[in-house]
Amino acid sequence: MKFFVDTADTAAIRELADLGMVDGVTTNPSLILKSGRDIVEVTKEICDMVSGPVSAEVVATEAKQMIAEGLKLATIAPNIAIKVPLTWDGLTACKALTSEGQMVNVTLCFSAAQAILAAKAGASFISPFIGRLDDIHIDGMELIEDIRTIYDNYDYETEILAASIRSVNHVVEAGRIGADIVTAPPAVIKAMAGHPLTDKGLDQFLKDWAKTGQSIG
Ligand code: G3P
Repeated sequence: MKFFVDTADTAAIRELADLGMVDGVTTNPSLILKSGRDIVEVTKEICDMVSGPVSAEVVATEAKQMIAEGLKLATIAPNIAIKVPLTWDGLTACKALTSEGQMVNVTLCFSAAQAILAAKAGASFISPFIGRLDDIHIDGMELIEDIRTIYDNYDYETEILAASIRSVNHVVEAGRIGADIVTAPPAVIKAMAGHPLTDKGLDQFLKDWAKTGQSIG
């Protein structure tokens, strides 16, 4: 299971990358805003830190302009994956950019029908948004399951990048279903280490150790 980190916070990316937890990074306009940094400058810094795909999103809504923006973003580093929205123009841009050998991440996917179109347009990654579906009481995991089944039925090579991950359970469920990649905020990745029985067990071990009166080293 590959982990992408869903942030433009370079300190958080570095901390996780140093532990070998980062197979790639995803950003979007909201995350760039949150970082308070210039898109080119911060994306370059991320690409220097991470060898896997780093998604940078276009903001144009018309295919020709999306392609121009995508090609500009691609000059930042060889590991840029150009992120385009799942609109008809986005699919048009996806086809053009992948035909030129660029990696493309098709984002804002909320249905299996959209995911089929992205695969047909040659997307490298499809990003179904689990949390935002859950927000409107639609089971986001069912979408991951449907896309997995359909892509496997036809051997589509597009990788399923489970996005809008909000909890540890989202990560585990996406893995169980067989999403190729999960992109999660750093806080969710760090929360995966936590378990109350770990805390309780450690507490007991330390208390018992203190009673032995021993020390190591
Ligand atoms: O990867 C997409 C992600 O950034 C969206 O997450 O929590 O804003 O729905 P969220």
